[in-house]
Amino acid sequence: MAPTILIAGATGNTGRSVVETLPKLLKGTDLSSHRIIALTRSANSAAAKALAELPGVEIVEQNWVEIDEKWLREHEVERIFIASHNLPNAFAEEGQFLVNALRAGVKYLVRISTTAANVRPDISVYYPRTHWAIEQMLSQPEFKNMHWSSLQPNGFAPMFLTPAAEFIKEYKKTGKQGSVSMIIDESTPTALIDSHDVGVVAAHLLAAEQTAPHNQKRYVLNGPVDVTGKEIIKLVEQYIGEPVKDVRYKDLSFIDGMAKNSSESKNVMLSIKGAAVTSWEGKAKAETTSKEILELYAPKRTVSEVLKELVEA
Ligand SMILES: NC(=O)c1ccc[n+]([C@@H]2O[C@H](COP(=O)([O-])OP(=O)(O)OC[C@H]3O[C@@H](n4cnc5c(N)ncnc54)[C@H](OP(=O)(O)O)[C@@H]3O)[C@@H](O)[C@H]2O)c1
Repeated sequence: MAPTILIAGATGNTGRSVVETLPKLLKGTDLSSHRIIALTRSANSAAAKALAELPGVEIVEQNWVEIDEKWLREHEVERIFIASHNLPNAFAEEGQFLVNALRAGVKYLVRISTTAANVRPDISVYYPRTHWAIEQMLSQPEFKNMHWSSLQPNGFAPMFLTPAAEFIKEYKKTGKQGSVSMIIDESTPTALIDSHDVGVVAAHLLAAEQTAPHNQKRYVLNGPVDVTGKEIIKLVEQYIGEPVKDVRYKDLSFIDGMAKNSSESKNVMLSIKGAAVTSWEGKAKAETTSKEILELYAPKRTVSEVLKELVEA
């Protein structure tokens, strides 16, 4: 067996492009003979099958939350990427995984955190506090033998633009306008990022021959340009050729449904409504992107390109 780079969350928003990008970046480096293992809970899913087609990647059907120290040692895991789920037990599950990684001698970890302005101990929303707590845990001296970098991305453009893309598709089918729901504010600029770009940044870090320069770093990631809700509606109007009649900015009403259908505490689930406040306050603009990220791999894809891809999908 060869040393392994393990991708947990490989089939998801960010993990897919980590898996697509990493084999090319490893060529000709000290890590060129490392195995790349992409994890999934279901090798039969369309996303897992697509990854299985990639050269130099092994798909392993294994839920990362159940991986222990022995598994990591047996697979000679040296580096890890993880895009953890956002559920209320994420600290317990990601924390367990990371302690197992430390104990198994893993040398470098790249993880997905959340929007930088939200990663604070006093944020009203539960899941950015989880990311804060994981970063605090990793910062303790006990973790000094495992290098880590935590990526703090702005909202993922594909998710934020899906309602606009669905509105356009529906209009093209029926000639009738529904309403467009938008999480972002009408006039405050924010630099939504394509989750694909986030994965490409992560792959560049995982392929770094020297991890010390990136150790204990929290990197801020935004898309290349700021956009307002009004500007997105202008893009939508270019597709449909007429003014949009019903727009709901700062619309987080879908979280009511999530909370209602969840078995978790309503109080905890409804706290998600606060996640967009910092972007409404102008704290998630392109200018906040870390300079190290601009040097390593500057995120490229604009909101307009992502919307086009969603509409054509
Ligand atoms: N969405 C946003 O706008 C946004 C913005 C900034 C940061 N983030 C952060 O991004 C992180 C998530 O990254 P992502 O969007 O790339 O991941 P993702 O797409 O939500 O999930 C990645 C993969 O993890 C597996 N998975 C999902 N739920 C799981 C569970 N409960 N237990 C075990 N495996 C599970 C699934 O793969 P299989 O089904 O193949 O196993 C999934 O494809 C979160 O921590 C979030 O805070 C999100």
